[in-house]
Amino acid sequence: MPIPRSEYLSNVWRDGIFEGRVVFVTGGAGTICSAQTRAMVYLGADACIIGRNVEKTESVAADIATARKGAKVLGIGGCDVRDPESLNKAAERCVKELGAIDFVIAGAAGNFVAPIMGLSSNGFKTVMEIDVLGTYNTVKATIPHLIESAQRNPNPSTDGLTGGRILYVSATFHYAGMPMQAHVAAAKASVDSISSSVALEFGPYGVTSNVIAPGGIAGTEGMERLSSSKLDLKETAKHIPSGRWGTIRDIADATVYLFSDAGNYVNGNVLVVDGADWRNKGMG
Ligand code: HXC
Repeated sequence: MPIPRSEYLSNVWRDGIFEGRVVFVTGGAGTICSAQTRAMVYLGADACIIGRNVEKTESVAADIATARKGAKVLGIGGCDVRDPESLNKAAERCVKELGAIDFVIAGAAGNFVAPIMGLSSNGFKTVMEIDVLGTYNTVKATIPHLIESAQRNPNPSTDGLTGGRILYVSATFHYAGMPMQAHVAAAKASVDSISSSVALEFGPYGVTSNVIAPGGIAGTEGMERLSSSKLDLKETAKHIPSGRWGTIRDIADATVYLFSDAGNYVNGNVLVVDGADWRNKGMG
C-alpha cells in the first residue's frame, strides 16, 4: 500500500512551486531526508539523493520518483560525505544529469547511543567527521551551484520560484546537553555554527542558509535507537507541550516553507520543530 501524499505534506502548498528546480540531498535515503525530498518532488522539483549504501540509495530514489509523474530522481550511492572528492563528483553528476543544484539538504549524519565513558576517541571522531566535516564538504561541493541558482532566481522572487538555498538537519540535544549523545550534541552544535557562517558569507550572493532542528520524530531510526524498547507513542508524548511526537510531515512542511518564496528573508536561522519539547525538559 503506497503511503498517501497527506502523510508527507500538508495541503496548504501549491503544486509547481519548485517546478524546474533541483534539490541535492545528502543522507537522502534516511527516513527524514527522504520525506523532505519527496515533499519537494510532489511540488515540482527533481532530486538527487546521496548515500553510502548503493542499493538502498537507488531503491529509495526510485520510490521517491513515483511521487510525481515525470519526476527525475537520481540516487547516487557509494558516496561518503567524509570524502570531498566523492561529493564533488556527485554534485557534478547532479548538474550534468538534472541541470542544476537549486536547493541543498545537508542531512547525512552518524549516530549511536553511547555514554561518554563508553565512547572511544575514534567513535567521537567518526560522528564529528560524518556530521561536521561532511557538512563542510557538502557546502563546498554545492555553494558554487547555489550561487548560480540564486543569481538565476532573485530573492525575493519575482515569479514565486526560488533557488540558492541550503538547509541542514540538526537536533536540539546541544541546547541543554543530552546523556548518551555527547558526541552527537557536539557535532550538531557545529552544524548550526557552519550554517550561520554560510549565511553571512554567501547571503550577499543571494544564498540562504538555515537549520531545521527536529525533535523526536515517530518512525525514524533515531527514535528507535534512543529508546530501549518499543515506544508507546501516546504515553511517552505526555511531557511534550504539543502533546505528540513529531511526524515526517512536520519536517517536510518546514522544509518547503524555508525553500519557498515565503521563506525568502529567513537566513542564518534555526527552525526548531519539536512541539516545544526541548524547552520543557525537566518539567515533565
Ligand atoms: C560506542 C561505537 C558504537 C556504539 C560505533 N562505535 N558504534 N562506540 N557505541 N554503539 C565506534 C566504533 O567502535 C569505532 O570506534 C567508531 O565508532 C567507528 O565505527 P565504524 O563502524 O568503523 O564507523 P562507520 O562504518 O563509519 O559507521 C559510522 C557509524 C554508524 C556512525 C558508527 O552508526 C553509521 O554508519 N551510521 C549512519 C547512519 C546513522 O547513524 N543514522 C542515524 C541518523 S539519526 P573504535 O574505537 O572501535 O575504532 C540521527 C538523529 C538523531 O542522527 C537521533 C538520536 C539517536
